[in-house]
Amino acid sequence: MAPSNNNIPLVFSLLAAFSLLAAASGGGEWVLLQRSVGISAMHMQLMHNNKVVIFDRTNFGVSNLSLPAGAPCIQYEKSPLDCSAHSLLYDVVSNTFRPLTLQSNVWCSSGALDANGTLVQTGGNDKGDHRVRLFSPSAAKDDASDWDELPDGLAIRRWYSSNHLLPDGRIIVLGGRKEPNYEFFPKTPSAPDHFNLLFLNETNDPLEENNLYPFLYLLPDGNLFVFANQKSISLDYINNRVVREFPVIPSEKRSYPSSGSSVLLPLKGRVPVVEVMVCGGAPNGSYPLANRKSNKVFMEASKTCGRLRVTDADPQWVMEEMPMSRVMGDMVLLPSGDVLIINGASNGTAGWENAVGPVLNPVLYHPAESNLSQRFAVMNASSTPRMYHSTAILLPDGRILVGGSNPHDKYRFNAVPYHTELSLEAFLPLYMAPQYSALRPTIVNVGARGMIVTYGQKFSVTFKVANYRPDQEAAIAMIAPSFNTHSFSMNQRMIYLDFMGGVGQVPLGYKLKVIAPATKDIAPPGYYMMFVVHGGIPGQSVWMKVVH
Ligand SMILES: *[C@@H]1O[C@H](CO)[C@@H](O)[C@H](O)[C@H]1NC(C)=O
Ligand SMILES: *[C@@H]1O[C@H](CO)[C@@H](O)[C@H](O)[C@H]1NC(C)=O
Ligand SMILES: *[C@@H]1O[C@H](CO)[C@@H](O)[C@H](O)[C@H]1NC(C)=O
Ligand SMILES: *[C@@H]1O[C@H](CO)[C@@H](O)[C@H](O)[C@H]1NC(C)=O
Ligand SMILES: *[C@@H]1O[C@H](CO)[C@@H](O)[C@H](O)[C@H]1NC(C)=O
Ligand SMILES: *[C@@H]1O[C@H](CO)[C@@H](O)[C@H](O)[C@H]1NC(C)=O
Ligand SMILES: *[C@@H]1O[C@H](CO)[C@@H](O)[C@H](O)[C@H]1NC(C)=O
Repeated sequence: MAPSNNNIPLVFSLLAAFSLLAAASGGGEWVLLQRSVGISAMHMQLMHNNKVVIFDRTNFGVSNLSLPAGAPCIQYEKSPLDCSAHSLLYDVVSNTFRPLTLQSNVWCSSGALDANGTLVQTGGNDKGDHRVRLFSPSAAKDDASDWDELPDGLAIRRWYSSNHLLPDGRIIVLGGRKEPNYEFFPKTPSAPDHFNLLFLNETNDPLEENNLYPFLYLLPDGNLFVFANQKSISLDYINNRVVREFPVIPSEKRSYPSSGSSVLLPLKGRVPVVEVMVCGGAPNGSYPLANRKSNKVFMEASKTCGRLRVTDADPQWVMEEMPMSRVMGDMVLLPSGDVLIINGASNGTAGWENAVGPVLNPVLYHPAESNLSQRFAVMNASSTPRMYHSTAILLPDGRILVGGSNPHDKYRFNAVPYHTELSLEAFLPLYMAPQYSALRPTIVNVGARGMIVTYGQKFSVTFKVANYRPDQEAAIAMIAPSFNTHSFSMNQRMIYLDFMGGVGQVPLGYKLKVIAPATKDIAPPGYYMMFVVHGGIPGQSVWMKVVH
């Protein structure tokens, strides 16, 4: 009974959405949020209570953040007794934070929110490598929530793995150092506890790996897109069968330690066109040269991006060139439909002391711009290098939270070119500039009980805006909060909602009837930020829960 695409007038086009924003370079603003949060933001996850779980690594030595009052000092594996914290909860709204308590090493781990918005964090190093750690967001004013560690949550050690939330609510944990296989959480009794994946053997370069932290995307046909090194497949993860092999992306290596980044471009409609984008990385041979003990050589990083339309009959990588080279960048989907490429370095690879030349300017990419020479725009520079172990995530108000950078084996604050970075900053894309205030929509009402919708449900969204422009089109987008670490945002996903009819004027403002995502393969169940975008300018989002 779901309406077919034919009788839904498409009220917006991606292209029109940009027309009010200056296409030129420059723009965007950097704001220092915290000079020091005491740890280096190596991993970040936003939750639906507007708090961000942040953690680094428990064998970095003593951090600049004390443990919560009364929490015992902890002996992390082979490290000396440590009475400092390595994890915290950052409150986006009040710009405050409090320490959390970890019991095992979360270094280079992975994570995903489950269908109820609980952070399921997996693996790490040493005695932490089989752990699953849960963090449940709390709405309480005196929120004292903390980590809950499950010692044997995983069958296989997971270090440098990637996670993805699945349509049935389970989480797949795939790959990791010397582990060419995948597993699920929670476990299904009587099913095998892991599955081998030869693709991960085949993408492992003998001297450099280049297949860690694979890029994973749930495809609307139910399979999982898996990208590692320069190769990609569509995986039927239920039957452990490779459904399709895609062409090799040209030029450079793209996965850790030759870390490029990647996004799934926004999905639209009941049968979406699916396009994966990969940017940056490092040429073959970079890692062994950069990773030498002395006489290090830092090769120039990749300047290329590739787009692969996975749903084509014969998909091919279409290559483009960024304004500058970048390794260890982070790609962030913006509610405007653009992609922000931020953080990273111009030369070298991931790994301790393995990169030089921080890239301080983010780059904005307009996927729908037909003039190829206008797709990239260079944004205003930060003053803070964010290289190895830096992070960037979208916040519910449209800002980008940026943190981390520690290219050293321990915290180092002196006598090094790029010291350990304990600060948190926000990058405000051009759409947040004051000159667009009158165009910025504010959501005043959502016609969905408890802000919960089921697949294909019709509901209304009412927004107000000072200067409504009927010539400019409105869009409504849902964006999943992602787990960001090591240049990849796991579960990052943006879905445009279909409309029924056009924008109607009501006493409160302007009203749209929309349709929730059609299937759980398009939008796995869980919490999403829902943004209204008017003429390319998004306002503050609201949290919606999609259930089945
Ligand atoms: C950012 O760039 C714009 C356009 O180039 C410029 O007008 C503005 O002053 C810059 N802002 C900051 C904070 O640097
Ligand atoms: C962290 O602590 C160290 C040593 O106590 C100190 O040198 C450094 O300045 C502190 N860093 C920040 C950013 O507070
Ligand atoms: C989510 O919460 C519901 C209701 O409490 C529960 O039935 C369900 O098992 C939970 N799902 C997960 C993945 O925890
Ligand atoms: C794949 O790699 C694993 C771990 O390195 C190894 O044990 C296994 O034999 C390899 N499989 C094949 C078919 O090469
Ligand atoms: C990559 O570089 C290594 C040396 O670091 C070399 O052995 C190998 O043949 C190169 N591979 C390709 C595909 O060029
Ligand atoms: C990066 O590599 C290029 C090419 O080798 C070189 O010209 C440039 O100076 C390097 N940049 C840095 C910051 O080392
Ligand atoms: C594309 O953009 C470039 C640079 O802004 C401009 O010079 C050129 O005329 C544009 N091409 C078309 C076909 O509009």
